[in-house]
Amino acid sequence: MGVKIIGYGFYVPNNVITNHDMEKWMDTSEEWIVERTGIKERHFVTVGEEGTSDLAVKAAKKALEKANISASDLDMIIAATLSPDYEIPGIGVLIQSKLEGCSLIPAYDIRQQCSGFVYGLELAATFIKSGKYKNVLLVGAEIQSVGLNISTNGRDLAVLFGDGAGAFVLTNSQDDSDIIDSVLHSEGQYYKALWKEYPSIYVRDRIRQEDIVFGRHYPAMNGRFVFKHASTRMPEVVMELLNKTGIDLEDIAQIIPHQANLRITNMIANRLGLSSDKIFSNIEKYGNTTAASIPIAFCEALEEKRFKRGDYIITVSFGSGFTWGANLIKF
Ligand code: UT7
Repeated sequence: MGVKIIGYGFYVPNNVITNHDMEKWMDTSEEWIVERTGIKERHFVTVGEEGTSDLAVKAAKKALEKANISASDLDMIIAATLSPDYEIPGIGVLIQSKLEGCSLIPAYDIRQQCSGFVYGLELAATFIKSGKYKNVLLVGAEIQSVGLNISTNGRDLAVLFGDGAGAFVLTNSQDDSDIIDSVLHSEGQYYKALWKEYPSIYVRDRIRQEDIVFGRHYPAMNGRFVFKHASTRMPEVVMELLNKTGIDLEDIAQIIPHQANLRITNMIANRLGLSSDKIFSNIEKYGNTTAASIPIAFCEALEEKRFKRGDYIITVSFGSGFTWGANLIKF
């Protein structure tokens, strides 16, 4: 059984936040942000107006329209996010409810942070290949903005992230497959290198006053350590996937990496010996949208004609956990 990508779409909130806006809120500069990350602007929701599931549904509707099927045709939802609307339940069920016409299908939530979509693609493809499910909606959606420390104390992370969502509709096929293979990894010993400690199960009520006072409810990152691992693991897993599948790097029309930092993307290109037109970047417009970055980049790379139907592409990611992985797609 093969797996086809029949729909794709993305959505970002209207509110554009520039680096100059960031300068008003913290001790930072347009120059620092562009030089160290490549980011020029990102999109933030207006607090309270949209939830992560709303972004997900808007992206999903575009993907369904492209696929020319309706929500009632879906057999499963897989939603990747680290920023669900609520702690309980996840956004999978909210998407099922907000996508009018969806029947009582299973709805998964997966985590894996920046690697959520790459992990999700392997999961969706495996479910479809098993023959048990036909049409699967895979969404990566994220609202990072409301959970960041938007001040000088949190500036290392605050300038990096943006909000958005991207979705694929996948279906089975008796012919060839779009999803050829995937390689996934994790290395949990480094979970504290990029994490958010509270709310946590280790304290009563999951959070104390002092945790809020000391800002322990904001994400924290050892930036240089994560940078080093991200820029090593992503080219490594691309080569592992190529070796596993017997495809040559020259046959890949486009590498679509998770958009974490333009310097990381450039290092992946350097380490693989690729010219910059073979690896896609749109981080300057959206920042790091975590689980949404790969489907958003996929849609824009396609729009820019970086690849076409029939081409091989690779999606590759690295994120908190650590988790990383890559998918080989013959689109
Ligand atoms: O998506 C999941 C994976 N995430 C990543 O892959 C992110 C990986 N890490 C990175 O992208 C980079 O480490 C950062 C962009 C987060 C930081 O860049 P860096 O070149 O590693 O900077 P740094 O953390 O070593 O900090 C250099 C300086 C520090 O000042 P001092 O100590 O040298 O005086 C920071 O305090 O830059 C300072 N700094 C800032 N300055 C202005 C940190 N954040 C900012 C800021 N504006 N926003």
